[in-house]
Amino acid sequence: MSLPAGIFINGVTGEVPDANEHYIKTIGELRGLYRDVTAFDTYLRDCGDGPAYAVAGYRQADSDIIFGTTTMQPGKIGDEYFMTRGHYHVRRDCGEVYYTQSGHGVLLLQTREGETREVTMAPGVCAFIPPDWAHRSVNTGPEPLVFAWFCQATAGHDYGDILSHGMRKLAVERADTLAIVANPGF
Ligand SMILES: [Fe+2]
Repeated sequence: MSLPAGIFINGVTGEVPDANEHYIKTIGELRGLYRDVTAFDTYLRDCGDGPAYAVAGYRQADSDIIFGTTTMQPGKIGDEYFMTRGHYHVRRDCGEVYYTQSGHGVLLLQTREGETREVTMAPGVCAFIPPDWAHRSVNTGPEPLVFAWFCQATAGHDYGDILSHGMRKLAVERADTLAIVANPGF
């Protein structure tokens, strides 16, 4: 049986001391995500591999809801800002909520039919992700981007479509500022 609990979330570091699920994605594990392969190799050679983003989750057995945080490091590969892999949910009836606590970024969303949207990620902004919209977070600022997420425990992650095709829009730096452009490789 699930029991009520108060779970502390550090909104600056994203740390969740009571988290019982963790994973880290390193830059090196994200090969293929960025369009500029030369810039990717140069980054790894010059900066070395390290965490791109870390996820801490809190799950109670038999609960219908899970939540946690994602902490994304700042940086760029070529002109593309650091981003998450992006995913649909396996369960197409499950949406999600992202509550940005610190840092600045953009949430790229798209449907299977080709609609796209962007939602600004800034402290205090709660992003509503409707069911069956793919979503990818991008850290466009100089600081870590920390956001809390809340979703159905059985939603599941389907990374395959985005990993093989990319997303329709890219979040890139143009003249020192964020630009959302069509992905020429989609
Ligand atoms: Fe999700």
